[in-house]
Amino acid sequence: MKTITSFLVVCVLLSCFLGACHGGNLRKNFYRNSCPQAEAIVKTKIQQHVAARPELPAKLIRMHFHDCFVRGCDGSVLLDSTATNKAEKDAIPNLSLAGYDVIDDIKAEIEAKCSGVVSCADILALATRDAFSVQFNNVPLWEVLTGRRDGRVSIASEALANLPPPFFNFTQLKQSFESKKLTVHDLVVLSG
Ligand code: HEM
Repeated sequence: MKTITSFLVVCVLLSCFLGACHGGNLRKNFYRNSCPQAEAIVKTKIQQHVAARPELPAKLIRMHFHDCFVRGCDGSVLLDSTATNKAEKDAIPNLSLAGYDVIDDIKAEIEAKCSGVVSCADILALATRDAFSVQFNNVPLWEVLTGRRDGRVSIASEALANLPPPFFNFTQLKQSFESKKLTVHDLVVLSG
C-alpha cells in the first residue's frame, strides 16, 4: 500500500513538473482540431522506439528536465548550434543527452500529416510520458497538457547557468529548484 501511495505521489508530481499543474495557456488535447493524429503518432512511434531501446524513458525524461530548466519547456535544448551561436545542446551538461533522433523521427511524421502545427516542446513532453507508459501496458502515468510554443533562442551558457551541476550541495539544489518555482518536495521526488 505504501509503495502504491508513493508511486501515485511521484506520478502527480511528474504531471506538475512536466506541465499539467502549470496550467497557463496549456490545455488538454490542444491539437484536437489542428492535428488530431498528433498524440497518437507520438504514442505509436515511442512504442516502437522503446521496444528497441529500453533505456529511452530515462534518456527522454533527462532531456525534458534539461529543456524545462532553461527558458522553460520550449524545446530550446533541441536546437542546433550555428556558425555564430553555441546552442544548449553543446553545453557540457547536455553532451551526454540522447534521444534527439527519436524526437526528430516523431516530428518528421507529424510534419508530414500537419505541417507547422505541433511544437517540438510538446512532442518532447508527450514522448517522455509515453515512453514511461510502455512498461505499464501503455497506460499514461501522468497527464500532459499541450500548447507549448517552441523557443528560437538556445544559448549554451544559459544551460550551464541554469542546470544544477553534480557537485551542488543540498542548499544549492534547493535554491536551484526554487528558482524554477519547485519545492524541496519536488526536488526529492524528481531526483528519486
Ligand atoms: C537535482 C539535480 C540533478 C543533478 C545535479 C543531476 C545530475 C545528473 C548527472 C551528473 C547525471 C549523469 C550524466 C552522465 O551520464 O554524464 C544524471 C543522469 C540522469 N538524470 Fe539527473 N540530475 C538532477 C536531477 C534530475 C531530474 C530532476 C531528472 C528527471 C526528472 C533527472 C534524470 C536523470 C536521468 C534519467 C539520468 C540518467 C540518464 C541516462 O541513463 O543516460 N535528473 N543526472
